[in-house]
Amino acid sequence: MPSSSPSPSPFPGAPQELLYEGKAKRVYRTADPQVYLCQYKDDATAFNAEKRGSIAGKGEVNCTVSSHLFRYLAQQGIPNHFLAQPSPTEMQVKAVTILPLEVVVRNRTAGSLCKRLGLERGLPIDPPLLEFYYKNDALGDPLVTQDHIRLLKLATPSQVEQVGSLALTINGHLQTFWRACQLELVDFKLEFGCDAEGEILLADEISPDTCRLWDLAAGDDSAPRVLDKDLFRFDLGDPVAGYQEVLQRVLQVVEQQPHPNSA
Ligand SMILES: Nc1ncnc2c1ncn2[C@@H]1O[C@H](COP(=O)(O)OP(=O)(O)OP(=O)(O)O)[C@@H](O)[C@H]1O
Ligand SMILES: [Mg+2]
Repeated sequence: MPSSSPSPSPFPGAPQELLYEGKAKRVYRTADPQVYLCQYKDDATAFNAEKRGSIAGKGEVNCTVSSHLFRYLAQQGIPNHFLAQPSPTEMQVKAVTILPLEVVVRNRTAGSLCKRLGLERGLPIDPPLLEFYYKNDALGDPLVTQDHIRLLKLATPSQVEQVGSLALTINGHLQTFWRACQLELVDFKLEFGCDAEGEILLADEISPDTCRLWDLAAGDDSAPRVLDKDLFRFDLGDPVAGYQEVLQRVLQVVEQQPHPNSA
């Protein structure tokens, strides 16, 4: 058997052809052209893959956390690609054509914003800051303006308007969810795609890889207790333990929610 063959999965929509292997996930076609299967990996990269490593259990944490967040956002009326989580590291999703944009929302200064603009880390940003980056590894995912997006034809002005406004709405919902987990949502990155009907759906993942999360129960603004990929990026602590702690907090919050059919 060729080494790239996926392991057999006992469910309809099992992986067939590998479409794309990214830094964090593998995306497979399934028998249904409208359904893809994402396999989440433990591989970790940072600084445009200059730093590489592995975080044991990360695939399971990110797949499970993302699945719960996509279900929660669907309940809040946010259209997204999530269909099911057939195993701890696998997510069935609606096949979309990903817009080559990373949509970032920031509630506090951190990361590249501080580096680029010379800002101190941890300053509150109100109203939140919305940024677009061109999803292009060769160029290092550069920041782009709406005019750059038009120049490069990365999305139509109406798509940019739609994903920008969705991202700010999602920010409100995610802040509420993460606060219930005793975590502050400092910033996060979203990806959107178009389905077969041309409808825009939230896609990709929402996890400690893509959100900066600071513990509300410990640390302070000048010395936050970090529970996200910055643990790996900057060697701030044990990423394995950090990711597991985020998963446990999410599971606790989800278990407290009334079951949709129990009313
Ligand atoms: N529903 C979907 N349909 C199609 N592609 C998807 C869907 N959800 C996520 N993807 C894509 O799956 C790919 C693999 O994810 P991964 O996070 O590993 O990528 P990555 O290494 O971060 O690379 P990239 O720079 O392409 O984002 C990404 O390009 C992502 O945009
Ligand atoms: Mg990614």
